[in-house]
Amino acid sequence: MRDPTALGVGRQRQADVYVGALRGARRSVPVDPVKLEDAAQRKMSAEGFAYIAGGAGLEETMRANRAAFDAVRIVPRVLRDVSRRDPSVDLFGRRLPGPFLLAPVGVLEMAHPQADLAVAKAAAGEGVPMIFSNQASVPMERCAEAMGSSPRWFQLYWSTSNDLVESLVVRAEACGCEAIVVTLDTTLLGWRTRDLDLAYLPFLRGKGIAQYTSDPVFRRLVEDAAGEPAERGLPTLAALRALVQLTRAYPGRFLTNIRSPHPRTAVRRFLEVYSRPSLTWDDLPFLRERTTLPVLLKGVLHPDDARRAADEGMDGLVVSNHGGRQIDGEIATAAALPAVVEAVQGRIPVLLDSGVRGGADAFKALALGATAVLIGRPYVYGLAVAGERGVRDVIRNFLADFDLTMGLAGHASAEEISRSSVVT
Ligand SMILES: Cc1cc2nc3c(=O)[nH]c(=O)nc-3n(C[C@H](O)[C@H](O)[C@H](O)COP(=O)(O)O)c2cc1C
Repeated sequence: MRDPTALGVGRQRQADVYVGALRGARRSVPVDPVKLEDAAQRKMSAEGFAYIAGGAGLEETMRANRAAFDAVRIVPRVLRDVSRRDPSVDLFGRRLPGPFLLAPVGVLEMAHPQADLAVAKAAAGEGVPMIFSNQASVPMERCAEAMGSSPRWFQLYWSTSNDLVESLVVRAEACGCEAIVVTLDTTLLGWRTRDLDLAYLPFLRGKGIAQYTSDPVFRRLVEDAAGEPAERGLPTLAALRALVQLTRAYPGRFLTNIRSPHPRTAVRRFLEVYSRPSLTWDDLPFLRERTTLPVLLKGVLHPDDARRAADEGMDGLVVSNHGGRQIDGEIATAAALPAVVEAVQGRIPVLLDSGVRGGADAFKALALGATAVLIGRPYVYGLAVAGERGVRDVIRNFLADFDLTMGLAGHASAEEISRSSVVT
């Protein structure tokens, strides 16, 4: 796919910004990632911002992610014709406009009331795959419906209920997801300092559990538990407030829900089933046997795990430390990538996320052997600032930045980027 326009996406985006300003057009989001985060913070509640921006412990892993990208330097080549550029990449038989996917991010209602739905529309508008989060605020079916034939994947948290795992995968297939991403780094919740200080966990308020409350297997679990005795004693004001919030978040009419035990039971059930710390390699065949879709493991950082994943028939990896939200002092993803790539020997594609903040980061990841990267927090900030339009503009900025970086480094296509394009 050569550029449809002579300008290419990078120059087109520059023209939209610079020429657009002459015509009085206003940008929806700041381009600078730090200003983008600041603008999002101004739009969000303290709890919402802490949940999205925060990391584990002293947040050293978040800093390490950036430092590792910083330590990889691009070495451009000159006097090569880069007037026509092709930033597209191939992934599982799909040609993507650039090496980008939208990372699965839960509880997007903390950023914007339209949450996942706005992101789905933006992703579809730009042709960039969206990975539906298992902790979404909007059921996957509603998002899929808004996306036409645009690519989408599903991210799975392996529940303690295998029936629920199967049900989620069946639903994902039915709504056109093209891959399943199993996230392995969140079998326990990390020590998230900012959230702990605010004593705020969105799931307890019924937020971010829409894939569960819309699931027939989960609803059965809730109904089975509805007869269990409720807590006794007079509720406090704070408890009442929390009850109202979670009742609002539950599907159906508020007045019906407030009299029903289901919203409270759903939260309790969710906490029981949401993840399985006992998960091992032996569990993977269960999933493999239940889907023909490519299965990727997210959160793989050790080369031995990467090799084993390829040996066990997994179809791809996401080198990720969950944006530094799980382990403080963890290896940065750009530092872990080369050994993982080396271990899988090109048998399966390797994706990367955590700390990707611009087109140059994507370029570096590709040079180190990744096929594509996942955009995380930046699109969530775009969502917070300007809804669907904000997410679209963040995606466009990434695509443009990547296209220009690639051309300036002397490469006419993403395929030309190689290990010799960078030094570490
Ligand atoms: C608020 C928030 C919620 C997230 N929820 C999920 C999730 O539900 N499932 C998942 O696999 N990863 C989740 N992640 C991790 C992202 O998929 C991705 O790995 C991470 O955001 C990358 O780091 P970055 O945003 O700093 O680039 C979440 C990240 C954030 C910031």
